[in-house]
Amino acid sequence: MRVTDLLRTMDIFEALPSEELEHIAQLLRERRLVESELLCRQGEPGDALFIVTGGRIRLSTMDPSGNEKVLTYFTDGQFFGEMALLTGAPRSATAIAETDSQVLVLQKHDFDQLLAGHTQIMREMLKVVSQRTLQTNQQLLAEETGSSVTVGGGRIYAVFSPRGGAGKSTLAVNMALAQAFDQPERTALADLSLTFGHAAALLGMKPETSLAAVPAESLSDFDRRTLGRYLTGHSSGLQVLVAGTRPEEGEAVTAAHVRAALATMKRQFSATIVDCGSSFDEPTIAALEMADKIIVVCTPELNTLRDVRECLRVFGEIIHLDNSRLCFVFNNNQPFITLAREQFEAALEQQMEHEIPHAGEAAYKAAAKGEPLVRSSSGSAFSKAVEKLTRAVIPAEAKAPRKSGLSLLNRNPRPAQPKPAPTRPSGGLMSLLRGKRAS
Ligand code: CMP
Repeated sequence: MRVTDLLRTMDIFEALPSEELEHIAQLLRERRLVESELLCRQGEPGDALFIVTGGRIRLSTMDPSGNEKVLTYFTDGQFFGEMALLTGAPRSATAIAETDSQVLVLQKHDFDQLLAGHTQIMREMLKVVSQRTLQTNQQLLAEETGSSVTVGGGRIYAVFSPRGGAGKSTLAVNMALAQAFDQPERTALADLSLTFGHAAALLGMKPETSLAAVPAESLSDFDRRTLGRYLTGHSSGLQVLVAGTRPEEGEAVTAAHVRAALATMKRQFSATIVDCGSSFDEPTIAALEMADKIIVVCTPELNTLRDVRECLRVFGEIIHLDNSRLCFVFNNNQPFITLAREQFEAALEQQMEHEIPHAGEAAYKAAAKGEPLVRSSSGSAFSKAVEKLTRAVIPAEAKAPRKSGLSLLNRNPRPAQPKPAPTRPSGGLMSLLRGKRAS
């Protein structure tokens, strides 16, 4: 890819005209790195910004006992090294080539000139810096408080709809935020819409790392530390895991990724809300199987009725999901009524437990601003309905602050745990039907 084309794909440069991109491209020098080569070291002064054009760069810090803690990985089109340039502080982390890699190097004086002439780039840079600082702080906090985290007590809430546009991501994001108000550090959101996940955008976030970046060989050892590397912190305290940062990455996410990540999230967080894919691919089936509760989002449309009916058949006959794990939510995703809730319930022979009103224009504004409605418009009918749904679905014990797992168990015995997630490997629907599940 030409350098200017690469620059155009980067959020910080997207508003620039082609001549400006050409100018920036002239300032960049390519540097090739062999596997394990050091690019910059924590504590040293910084004199350049790096943009990755090939390979994979590992970013890490050292704890006081000299153990490496990986913060994240950078791949094509991602940049780093801006903090030392902006603040004059030493490098906050060490960057090493994980594989043979290439980076473009922008020297400090060129970086300073570029920012002086473009307030928009400066603004975007500052956003990135504050997001990265927040992420590092939250990661450190999670590690520090690690000993007080309950063991295996969390629950998974999968938000599912067979229909695109049903409002599944909006509901998942708003539920997660509503829950995070009560349990900021104990709530997570996993966006497992593999190809076009929108949860992060709805939260105004641009995660730089994702589940797709977890190498298959690390899955058997996916502990809280590993998880921490792939989470992105939201300003509410909510921790977000996205399947991929780009559509093509989503394909790298397997059922094994989903099982490993959700099992660890269940241990780390009291509530993990999953924005599921809308198809019955292997990762989605894995998420549904692991969920303690599945929130089935229905919309007032005949097509939805037909699709939900088919889903119920698949849930029961093929995936063998226990009906008691399902919770039906009637989401008025349109401003007009084409099919009344009562008609929908009668035709499906299934009661809707909750109804969400149409949020009107505010919903579009919230999505555009990356400020979900439970935050930006907390008193609205939509927000109240989502808060009510969240309180009803996520049981009170998941909201109670828990310090030590053991002392909590003694004082407040947990109710019977939901069925453990099946350990058998999952295949798609066809392999389930044939009764032979691929490993
Ligand atoms: P700098 O401190 O100059 O050098 C190391 C770089 O790593 C830093 O700038 C940021 O660009 C980047 N960085 C630091 N912390 C994080 C983080 N938590 N997530 C992503 N990038 C980070």
